[in-house]
Amino acid sequence: MEDVSGDVTTLGGVHELISGRWSARGYDDQATITAAEVATILDAGRWAPTWGRIQPVRFIVGLRGDDTFDRLAKALSRGNIGWAPRASALVLVCTTNDVEDAKAQTYGAVDLGLAVSQMLIQSEALGYNAHPMAGFDVSAVTEDFALPVDKRALLVVAVGRLADSASLPPEIVERDARPRTRLGLDEVAFTGTWGRAFGTG
Ligand SMILES: Cc1cc2nc3c(=O)[nH]c(=O)nc-3n(C[C@H](O)[C@H](O)[C@H](O)COP(=O)(O)O)c2cc1C
Repeated sequence: MEDVSGDVTTLGGVHELISGRWSARGYDDQATITAAEVATILDAGRWAPTWGRIQPVRFIVGLRGDDTFDRLAKALSRGNIGWAPRASALVLVCTTNDVEDAKAQTYGAVDLGLAVSQMLIQSEALGYNAHPMAGFDVSAVTEDFALPVDKRALLVVAVGRLADSASLPPEIVERDARPRTRLGLDEVAFTGTWGRAFGTG
C-alpha cells in the first residue's frame, strides 16, 4: 500500500492538479465562492465525455447562506453533516434513471463520475478543495427538489477553501491529518494475464 500523504513525489509524473487533490473536511466557514467560479466548475463537468453524447448529468447548486444550500445540508448523512456545511458550495449531481435500460443506467453513472472528476480537478485549479459525498438522503432531495422520474441523485459535491487548523474542531483536524493511501500500481495494473504486474522498466 502506497502512502501519498504529504509526498506527491511518490506520484511521479502525475499532474499536480491530480496529485494535489484530496477530499478535505476542514473547510473555512467564512470563505465564499462566486457564482461565476461555481459556473466554471460546472462547465468542467458539463464538458466531460458522455456515453452516446447523451449528456445526462444535471446539477442543483447551493451557495452557503442560500436556501438550496441549507436544504442540501439538511439532507446530508450523520457522517457528513458535521463538516460539509462549512463548505462554500454544495452541488447535488444527478444522472440517468432509466430502470428499463441497464446499459443506460450503467453508463449514466460513468458519465456522472467523469463529470465529477473534472469538477474536482477544476476546483483544485481555482484554489478550492472539492469533496464528493454519497452520504445523503436521496429520497429527501428527490422530493424536495422535484427531481423528474428519469433522473437520480448520486452525489453531493462540497466545494470550499481550507481553513486554518486552529479554527477547526479537533476531530476534523485529526481526520484530515490521516494518511492517504492507495494500492500500488503493481497491485492494480497487469499485462499478459490477470495478476502479472505491468512494469515500467
Ligand atoms: C462515490 C463516492 C462517494 C463518497 N462519499 C463520501 C461521503 O459520503 N463522505 C465522505 O466523507 N467522503 C466520501 N467520499 C470521499 C472518499 O472517502 C475519498 O475520496 C477517499 O477516502 C479517498 O480520499 P481522497 O479523495 O482524499 O484521495 C466519496 C467518494 C466517492 C468517489
